[in-house]
Amino acid sequence: MGTSRMFRIFVVLGSAFMILLIIIYWDDVGASHLYLHTPVSPGPKILHPPPQQKPQTSRTPSFLSDIDAFVNQFLEPGTGEPTDPALTDTSNQSEKAEERYIPRREWKIHLTPVAAELRERQEQRRKLLQEMCANDSVVFPGKNRSFDDIPNKELDHLIVDDRHGIIYCYVPKVACSNWKRIMIVLSESLLQDGVPQRDPLAIHRDLVHNSSMHFTFNKFWKRYGKFARHLMKVKLKKYTKFLFVRDPFVRLISAYRNKFELQNEDFYRRFAQVMLRRYANQPTPPASVDEAFAVGIHPSFSHFIQYLLDPQTEKDMPFNEHWRQVYRLCHPCQIQYDFVGHLETAEEDAEHLLRQLRVDNVVEFPTSHRNLTASSWESDWFSTVPVEARRELYKLYEPDFRLFGYDRPDSLLNE
Ligand SMILES: *[C@@H]1O[C@H](CO)[C@@H](O)[C@H](O)[C@H]1NC(C)=O
Ligand SMILES: *[C@@H]1O[C@H](CO)[C@@H](O)[C@H](O)[C@H]1NC(C)=O
Ligand SMILES: *[C@@H]1O[C@H](CO)[C@@H](O)[C@H](O)[C@H]1NC(C)=O
Ligand SMILES: *[C@@H]1O[C@H](CO)[C@@H](O)[C@H](O)[C@H]1NC(C)=O
Ligand SMILES: *[C@@H]1O[C@H](CO)[C@@H](O)[C@H](O)[C@H]1NC(C)=O
Repeated sequence: MGTSRMFRIFVVLGSAFMILLIIIYWDDVGASHLYLHTPVSPGPKILHPPPQQKPQTSRTPSFLSDIDAFVNQFLEPGTGEPTDPALTDTSNQSEKAEERYIPRREWKIHLTPVAAELRERQEQRRKLLQEMCANDSVVFPGKNRSFDDIPNKELDHLIVDDRHGIIYCYVPKVACSNWKRIMIVLSESLLQDGVPQRDPLAIHRDLVHNSSMHFTFNKFWKRYGKFARHLMKVKLKKYTKFLFVRDPFVRLISAYRNKFELQNEDFYRRFAQVMLRRYANQPTPPASVDEAFAVGIHPSFSHFIQYLLDPQTEKDMPFNEHWRQVYRLCHPCQIQYDFVGHLETAEEDAEHLLRQLRVDNVVEFPTSHRNLTASSWESDWFSTVPVEARRELYKLYEPDFRLFGYDRPDSLLNE
């Protein structure tokens, strides 16, 4: 009698234990599936079939297999925008296309821990972000809204890498070309002679900035409709999210140098002509950037600042991404970034980040030999900008200064 009772208790306990194990195991498999088994297409032109999934590999199998298929199809050079999902699903290439799983290379063994100083630095930057988001004296449009209230088109700067579980919010003029290159290398979506390109610097500039190379959040809704938000939130929770920022005023100088001091037809037509007409008494500015440079005409830095402060500018269209505030590009109060890099400490931060992402054996951050805009030039550049305009400009960018810990440039503003 007593033994059969004991036996029953054992059976019940054992079953409960097994169920517990299965739950834990499922969770594990779900997560590692995302990182380890994203199939890579063998050739650039082949539409990729959804990977055949065992039902137990994930708690949301249909979503995940869909994502994998979609990501691969999307990132393939040459295929451009995603095709109709119905086409992919009924496609008969699934038998032909050969699936190749690239095993993840072993993690690099580090004998020394990450320097305490670097960890402390990240801790402080994350803490500052939290404090500033909670502090009602820091006010900016959209601060109080929830993630669900952010329109899809404002999520176009979040690049997702499902293979490694990384989300990067790119900020133009903050080493974004190099980080985009790294995201392309990590996604292994760019094939060179049949193998994924591993050298970030070998990726051509035009390709780096071609949006079809990057799988961004705003592309989710095209395929997933009402499930898109749910998926985004799952990824935001599970993945490592990072961004790089720099001093906001120095970023503006850099944007001006890059887009208006160099000949850029597109920016000349879209922005320089407007500035010349409005602020430089040039009712009919030269028709092309070549003509303008030939006669030595281009908007001055002061015109550029005037353009930013002009209320008409935002009425015409939202700020161009090269000068749009980081808080509008990356939503730092809705997205809890795990890593906040500063361009001013780019090399140390890059090393730390790649190690934290456990990809420092796969890719190295390219060191820049370019003539970077230095903060020490700030006073020279702003010498032609009236103090009143500088103060207004500071108000426009103040949230970026405060969220990311850049000091108010008192020497410029208190003259
Ligand atoms: C981006 O790449 C796609 C496909 O690779 C190509 O069709 C398109 O023209 C490119 N866009 C730009 C702006 O270069
Ligand atoms: C698959 O494609 C081949 C031609 O490539 C065709 O003959 C065959 O009928 C197709 N099969 C299905 C199931 O669509
Ligand atoms: C919010 O910011 C203001 C101004 O910088 C500061 O004085 C105040 O202490 C902050 N409040 C909190 C709760 O951190
Ligand atoms: C955000 O909420 C705080 C109170 O929580 C309020 O003081 C502030 O005005 C709100 N800001 C905006 C832009 O709605
Ligand atoms: C970098 O650019 C600035 C201004 O554009 C120039 O004065 C400086 O000499 C340059 N430095 C180098 C090392 O090229």
